[in-house]
Amino acid sequence: MEKIQGVTFKTLKETYQTPLYIYDEGLIRNQCRLFKKRFRHAKVDSEIIYASKAFLTVGMAQLIDSEGLYLDCVSQGELYTALKAGFPSEKIVLHGNNKTKEELLMALNFKVGMIVVDNDFEASLLNELVNDKHIVQVMLRINPGIDAHTHKYIKTSTLDSKFGMSILDPKTMETIKLLSENPFIKFLGTHSHIGSQILEPESFYEHAKTVLEFYKQIKKTLNLDLPAINLGGGFGVKYLKADQRLDLDTVLPEILDVVYDTANRLELDIPKVYIEPGRSIVAEAGYTLYTVNQIKETINKKKYLFIDGSMNDHLRTALYQAQYDAFVVGKERLEHDTEYTIAGKACESGDIIIENIKLPEVKENDLIVVRSTGAYHYSMASNYNRLTIPPVVFVHNGEVKTIVRRQSFMDILSHDEELI
Ligand code: LLP
Repeated sequence: MEKIQGVTFKTLKETYQTPLYIYDEGLIRNQCRLFKKRFRHAKVDSEIIYASKAFLTVGMAQLIDSEGLYLDCVSQGELYTALKAGFPSEKIVLHGNNKTKEELLMALNFKVGMIVVDNDFEASLLNELVNDKHIVQVMLRINPGIDAHTHKYIKTSTLDSKFGMSILDPKTMETIKLLSENPFIKFLGTHSHIGSQILEPESFYEHAKTVLEFYKQIKKTLNLDLPAINLGGGFGVKYLKADQRLDLDTVLPEILDVVYDTANRLELDIPKVYIEPGRSIVAEAGYTLYTVNQIKETINKKKYLFIDGSMNDHLRTALYQAQYDAFVVGKERLEHDTEYTIAGKACESGDIIIENIKLPEVKENDLIVVRSTGAYHYSMASNYNRLTIPPVVFVHNGEVKTIVRRQSFMDILSHDEELI
């Protein structure tokens, strides 16, 4: 692969330097359209909310708006970005555990479309903040206890999870009662998210069924018919050539079928269904371009390729032992007969981008492209070691747009104050 959307990696390097985050804008748009097209059902109302934590900038919020998706924000920073981008506040969902009073007030002032309350403490807080000026739509985050097979750091539905309230906890029903009785709150239903990078379709169906069983219990106990259900995100993507991504074409309509059939079986009104994909919208559309700086061979014959980036712009390998594919620009057709470990500039032994990858022989100044870096890369980047965070460009039909400019050292210093 020499080009993205008609633009060569060489041109991108010459114009923007490296490290560089590159997005194939057409691919992001295609994913948005695929979700909209496949998450549809003749008898079930549905909506897609993009989980902005995966990747958010002003330009990205504008892209999401132009594709007609809603936006999930989990902090004042994400909310501020969305509002600055002109994202319609009524299509914003405020999420997150441990919300501050300021965040809740900001969400109420800007009349966001929905607030997802994490727990009973937060429910009481919100109860005191709402008033007759604006009826706010609210959901409660529940924990349905689904065991999805994914890395423990990105699994969210275990009984002791920091997110949401267990469906087995009697306090959960009391919290639903409290929220639904508040005249300034329109209580829509529950939200739950069973984890991220989930590759088994069954987990999603089991999730939907479990939540609807809980809706039945709510109906019996509180005599409440809840109009909506939010099933979160977690749709798994392809990182390595050998990976099989979750088949969205099948899974998305099937989730709605399961909701429809289960609700009918349980004699419930059919709720409107929201989902919140993050990773699956952006991961595979993103590439990180690096330049090889040094090559080092240890006494044990381990070969390191030192690139000009680091765990600062590629944290997922260090944090989750995530695996990635990469290629050397212009050398893809050569024999991949040399094993390298690609590592960065940060002062950490764990600063590894890819451990043991077979590549053709690499030389100083070769360009390396790491694939599927569109989700949770830019958004988790840091200035550790005072390294600058790479810029972001979108490439579409031969055109390149800067979405985030390169940080300067002055940007890094911009909050420092003199001591003396
Ligand atoms: N909704 C909620 C409430 C979430 O907590 C998340 C992700 C999503 C939706 C979107 O999930 P996705 O479709 O992206 O899987 N930093 C980790 C991922 C953390 C996910 C946090 N929540 C990683 O790089 O793997």
